[in-house]
Amino acid sequence: MKSTRFDRIPAALQKHIHQRLGTWFDQHKRPMLWRNTHDPYAVWLSEVMLQQTQVATVTPYYARFLQQFPDIHALAAAPLDEILKIWAGLGYYRRAKSMHQAAQIIASTYHGIFPSTYDNMLKLPGIGRYTAGAIASIAFHETVPVLDGNVMRVLARLLLIRDNIATSQTQKRLWQIAEALVPQTNPGDFNQAMMELGATVCTPKHPRCESCPLKSFCMARQRNMQNQLPVKQRKAPTPHIEMAAVVINSPQGQLLAQRKAGGLWEHLWEFPAFELSRRNAAAASQQLFNLTGLNIKLKRLTESVTHQLTHRHLEYTIFVGTSKSKRNPLLTTALALHYESIRWISDMSDVPKSRLTEKISALSINRQQIPAAKPPAAK
Ligand code: ADE
Repeated sequence: MKSTRFDRIPAALQKHIHQRLGTWFDQHKRPMLWRNTHDPYAVWLSEVMLQQTQVATVTPYYARFLQQFPDIHALAAAPLDEILKIWAGLGYYRRAKSMHQAAQIIASTYHGIFPSTYDNMLKLPGIGRYTAGAIASIAFHETVPVLDGNVMRVLARLLLIRDNIATSQTQKRLWQIAEALVPQTNPGDFNQAMMELGATVCTPKHPRCESCPLKSFCMARQRNMQNQLPVKQRKAPTPHIEMAAVVINSPQGQLLAQRKAGGLWEHLWEFPAFELSRRNAAAASQQLFNLTGLNIKLKRLTESVTHQLTHRHLEYTIFVGTSKSKRNPLLTTALALHYESIRWISDMSDVPKSRLTEKISALSINRQQIPAAKPPAAK
């Protein structure tokens, strides 16, 4: 492997960058609820919620979460289901589970006091280099860097880094630059200013270079290359997977299954879903029977729901049916690959669900249906 190049930024240039960026941040930073606090618990929550998620989406979730779990002890003592209910709709549910685990460790090991050093933060579940850097610099003024997608873009343009930023080698180089650049004074403001610059000025498309406090130092701008940087490896096309979700009503409630730990949507409840390449109600009824032992006539809805994951594109065809029998579903081995439990739930609002499940539920109520298929012959 090629050795990583180390980019030295002259001290005088660093000083200019700090000054210009600091003044700009003071004048232009967007008001955000978490910018009114240095409480590490609140900073932690905001940084975790902001991963992969826009500020506007995070704001109401952040406020509700803090209201319900105002401190680490409250979070540590809460049942995971209650935390997932507050998180429902925000996605990437592993974040909530890791916060819960970390809160329990902080409650038992640190008497509920958030660890004050970057190194100790890194030992907690769900806290990686980025999150530890953000909390340590913002809440504890420790001189440590952050590197998220926004900061990578700012650095790639500022220093004309033409390498593929997706490779581990370039990542290492960018972390070294970020580390060398973060100042001793107000490192948290500097880190937030870099992220803010990337989010509002040095944007992926149509960067507003004329408004940029660093425009006179920007090597990409000097060569008019800001629109070509950063270079990102072209990804292979994401596979498209056809899914079936079945919404079954019965006198005992709706049929819901709880996802297993360790995978997608872990611990959340959803309408039982499975891969099904034919959008055909008879095929869905047969598969439901194979998976649960329930013999139910299904109808297909005309509308489907799509869900984009990082590496997959899922399309759900929705099938609906009713069951009058009192039979309980079986958790067959095939079903147990994805679910830890399946049962009739009388009130869906009692259990944590993803936004996708809410969407399917809404569509299943009063939607146009394609005529029924015959139920499969019982085996
Ligand atoms: N993105 C994630 N955390 C941020 C912060 N504290 N300021 C600006 N952008 C962010």
